[in-house]
Amino acid sequence: MAAAGSQTTIVPSDAELLQAQADLWRHSLYYLTSMALKCAVELHIPTAIHNLGGAASVADLVTSLSLPETKLPFLRRLMRMLVTAGIFRSDNNEEVETYLLNPLSWLLVEGVEAEDHTYQKYFVLGTVSRHYVEAAMSLADWFKKDLPVPVPSPFEELHGVPLLHEDTPKLDEELDKIVNEGVAAHDNLAIGTIIRECGDVFQGLQSLTDCCGGDGTTARAVVKAFPGIKCTVLDLPKVTEKAPADDDAVVSYVAGDVFNFVPPAQAVMLKLVLHLWNDEDCVKILEQCRKAIPSREEGGKVIIIEVVVDHSMEPIMYEAQLLMDMLFMVNCRGRQRGENDWRDIVMKAGFSDYKIVKKIGTRGIIEVYP
Ligand SMILES: C[S@@+](CC[C@H](N)C(=O)[O-])C[C@H]1O[C@@H](n2cnc3c(N)ncnc32)[C@H](O)[C@@H]1O
Repeated sequence: MAAAGSQTTIVPSDAELLQAQADLWRHSLYYLTSMALKCAVELHIPTAIHNLGGAASVADLVTSLSLPETKLPFLRRLMRMLVTAGIFRSDNNEEVETYLLNPLSWLLVEGVEAEDHTYQKYFVLGTVSRHYVEAAMSLADWFKKDLPVPVPSPFEELHGVPLLHEDTPKLDEELDKIVNEGVAAHDNLAIGTIIRECGDVFQGLQSLTDCCGGDGTTARAVVKAFPGIKCTVLDLPKVTEKAPADDDAVVSYVAGDVFNFVPPAQAVMLKLVLHLWNDEDCVKILEQCRKAIPSREEGGKVIIIEVVVDHSMEPIMYEAQLLMDMLFMVNCRGRQRGENDWRDIVMKAGFSDYKIVKKIGTRGIIEVYP
């Protein structure tokens, strides 16, 4: 008789064993891809390639970045890795191999004046910062601890303060600045795409409250595309105080707490807000939004723009969604949600129905009806 569990014993073939070793290398070493990206950003390699006319050899880069000549062969190895990771392109047709920008490295070029260009340097520097990496390294210890609910993130447990909080600067002022700039860069990326792809969501609206709308960048883009919409941005006083002063004619700002009050409008938008909160807090926010809108017959709706985790997506998109979920698990109390999770929280908040109007990239546009 077979010993218990013997049916599940894996006996890999030689080929499988060799593949397993290669995969073990990859997964154990992926942090080096992140660090190579960090290095490229800190050396300003994308900007140097851009300034060199969009294509550069390693020798060109050594000169333009003022690096010691002795680093040339090392830079070649770094660039080879970054090309393989999809961060640059290379051209082998010429005698000398040259490196070119692709859409990803274009976002890391400083000073580009183009619609849809949102400089992502601080997103990279925040996500690979020492504080984030240390929090990720403490994950196993964090799992073993029986922490009180609501469970603090590994970041909060390790560093003693939450991320994106008024106390974060006490931990490290520079980190707080980088993270805030990184979040803004992340949130502002692809606003134009959202508006182009999802015009129907805004078409015909008379008024919109952009809830937790930050400095109003999204609201201004909506009003530019749909001038008939009267747009209000709700955010904390410390954010609305810094809102552009000449902006009053375009959008109006209301200082307040989303847990207490949402300025009434035909529609309320929550773009990249709920992923920062746990389910209980999301329900409370959505309840306030529900109070702010009229009935479905009068066009009342909440527009949620967020990741919709979906394993049937293209594997790289799905992996990106899961990595973002891990980022939030390690560093804050929020999470990325799939359709079932979204259904649960909107129903708990008293809404009658919802529709995923469109999926764009890793995100979905969800309309929620009272
Ligand atoms: C991740 S940002 C989202 C920004 C914006 N929705 C966008 O897509 O660009 C989260 C925003 O929520 C605001 N916020 C956090 N807690 C809040 C609260 N209790 N009431 C109102 N706004 C809040 C923050 O100040 C910040 O501007």
